[in-house]
Amino acid sequence: MTDDALNSTALVKQLQSASGVLLRGCGSATPARSISNDELGKRVETNDAWIRSRTGISARRVVGSEESLAELSGLAAERALAMADWQADSLDLIVLATSTPDDLFGSAPRLQARIGAVNAAAFDLTAACSGFLFGLVTAAQYIRSGAMRRILVVGADQLSRWVDWDDRRSCVLFGDAAGALLLEASDNGQDDLEGFLLRSDGSRGEVLQLPQVNERRALIGGASHQCGGFEPIQMNGQEVYKFAVREVPAILDSLLRATSTNTDSIDWLLLHQANQRILDAVAERFSMPNDKVLSNLAAYGNTSAATIALMLDEAVRDGRIQTGHRIASSGFGAGLSWGAALLRWSGPA
Ligand code: UT7
Repeated sequence: MTDDALNSTALVKQLQSASGVLLRGCGSATPARSISNDELGKRVETNDAWIRSRTGISARRVVGSEESLAELSGLAAERALAMADWQADSLDLIVLATSTPDDLFGSAPRLQARIGAVNAAAFDLTAACSGFLFGLVTAAQYIRSGAMRRILVVGADQLSRWVDWDDRRSCVLFGDAAGALLLEASDNGQDDLEGFLLRSDGSRGEVLQLPQVNERRALIGGASHQCGGFEPIQMNGQEVYKFAVREVPAILDSLLRATSTNTDSIDWLLLHQANQRILDAVAERFSMPNDKVLSNLAAYGNTSAATIALMLDEAVRDGRIQTGHRIASSGFGAGLSWGAALLRWSGPA
């Protein structure tokens, strides 16, 4: 038999042993430098009281000259591997959810090399602030199909590169961070991804975008080429807010109904950390008491694809999220894209 034929036989065998997904470990990393609302007030016309009352944010972290997105992603991944007590070479796949790669061809392979995951394929996935949730669901399908057993999902963004730091309507919101989650095939039928729904609506995409620069240069013989590069983030805050408070409760409601889940059985609501008012509005819709709503955006702001994994890691490490806890999660943002997942935390074997 040729090598190719052998490989496909192995793949068919694996695909026959489809399995559930276990959430095994998590990790996160944030830049050292924290910038307070008062400090931002020295750059743009804003103040701590306005930012806190409209967003719940007190500070955000920004990648400094000695740091990088690759380094944050690597640290988050290594912390997750340490929690699960896995070697990096046991990973089959790395999915890096980011809208701000160091390299437009993809940063996941650099992350793979950095942590020594020599047996893992690696690719980037872009779905803005929904990226981590989309990445988690994507990764889970490789496991459910039986094709792979161990996968690292990282949500990481360095939006400080693309924020207009002179636009007070948006710059107060964003920060940089990375969060990681490890998925493993289960051999006993348990599935920690109990259900999910994903949605996109590109027709509303203009309310939050990071568009290409609109510049062409002469090439040759009358032909021209478009220049590479991006404009800073453009956001219609009120429209994004309305989108979030309408779509997030709706998709969570659909998911809970589709999985016959009663809100009383949910231990934690883990939403993309965009704005405390959005978190409060969604919690109220589901009559979730405040102490079941995870929130750390006061310290970090909106870290885009990182928020859900960053919050998960904090709550696992401080003991709030425990083995067997059920988590209703929702990511939402540019695209527009949004999604919801019903998760169970297994933790290390
Ligand atoms: O992952 C998704 C990312 N995006 C989001 O989550 C954005 C969702 N939207 C929001 O969080 C809110 O819309 C914002 C926090 C961005 C803005 O809050 P808002 O209550 O919608 O304020 P607004 O845009 O209606 O502005 C109210 C006023 C305006 O002044 P006038 O026109 O009433 O005189 C703004 O110019 O507040 C002013 N303003 C500010 N004042 C002080 C806007 N930004 C600031 C600021 N500091 N940073």
